[in-house]
Amino acid sequence: MAASTARNREVRLTRHPVGALRAEDFIVADTPMPVPGPGELLVRNRWFRVSVSTRLMAQEDAQTVQGIPFPPLRIGDTLADAAIGEVVAVGPTCDLPVGSVVMHPFGWRDYAVVAAPHATLLDADADPAAHLGHGWTAYAALTQGIRIEAGDTVFVTSGAGAIGAMAGQIAKRLGAGRVIGSTSGRDKADWMRVELGYDAVVTRGGDPLIDQLAWAAPQGIDVIVDMVGGEQLAAALSLARNGARCVILGALTAELDPRRAGLRAPVELDSFQIVIKGITLRGFSACEEASDAFAAWLHHLAAWQRDGGLRLPCTVLEGLDAAPLALQEACAGRLRGVVLVTL
Ligand SMILES: NC(=O)c1ccc[n+]([C@@H]2O[C@H](COP(=O)([O-])OP(=O)(O)OC[C@H]3O[C@@H](n4cnc5c(N)ncnc54)[C@H](OP(=O)(O)O)[C@@H]3O)[C@@H](O)[C@H]2O)c1
Repeated sequence: MAASTARNREVRLTRHPVGALRAEDFIVADTPMPVPGPGELLVRNRWFRVSVSTRLMAQEDAQTVQGIPFPPLRIGDTLADAAIGEVVAVGPTCDLPVGSVVMHPFGWRDYAVVAAPHATLLDADADPAAHLGHGWTAYAALTQGIRIEAGDTVFVTSGAGAIGAMAGQIAKRLGAGRVIGSTSGRDKADWMRVELGYDAVVTRGGDPLIDQLAWAAPQGIDVIVDMVGGEQLAAALSLARNGARCVILGALTAELDPRRAGLRAPVELDSFQIVIKGITLRGFSACEEASDAFAAWLHHLAAWQRDGGLRLPCTVLEGLDAAPLALQEACAGRLRGVVLVTL
């Protein structure tokens, strides 16, 4: 097997980052070629996802927090994220053919040993952006986390991000009347309107969010898909209509604070208004959801790509050495859609 003489490389955490990520937080390490044991596959990775959640997992105190759906990273650990690759060898008792294309959770390395139950068989020509992207997370949030209704005015925070860029488009296709997103600057805002179909975009760091949002949603907001927290969540809730539904997926304002990124995301809400307006607030993790809903998502994805021009926005970088920079750039807000590395 050619793979036995090849070298393997993987990206490891060298220290727990403080504030904005730096190149020194990571090292690309040479390692012996891994060997698949019984029931395992050796996969040559071709694509993997770079998620800002990795910043959260690398946080020193991530290990003390229960309920984070990703394993925390210790110093020396190899980073991990969803990946697609080709099976180049199999261990005893594993009957998947060499050459199969699989998806699995061990990106950030050239070669991965994967226990067969953790590998999902894909078509050889599978679109990496469809499988590694966050369309499912967005769809699950809008159909399982809360229920979107025809004509709803929807606000998606971090609307140009991996989940947000899909959530805005999917909300429209599920019947939303008006979809508003948030981002950091004018270029992304223009792209969101033109490419993703947002009706309006508000920007952080400029005029008060509440004023921009009141202008963008003069009738108020029915559905909030929140990845940011802080000022954006508070502003959206203060403009919520009776019966509004809010699904909270993340807290980027805390996770990516360049001065003191952390795991606490306090926000001041008017709980009286939540009672009076009958607002639903739900924290949500897409991994909880049932396979029926996932099958429905795959069906919609195919139909919307065929008929409705659903975009799968992604930023692609080449080579393992580019991956740490990709993560830094994603966290700094300089990339769009899901971030993928090709090997
Ligand atoms: N619940 C689930 O099932 C689930 C699954 C995966 C991820 N998550 C979580 O969901 C959230 C979104 O994940 P994602 O992968 O889609 O991330 P993302 O939105 O792609 O995150 C990157 C974007 O965050 C924005 N950003 C950067 N610094 C910020 C700050 N200080 N305040 C506010 N926004 C900032 C930037 O966008 P702009 O420049 O456009 O502002 C940047 O491009 C994260 O909290 C993640 O941990 C949840």
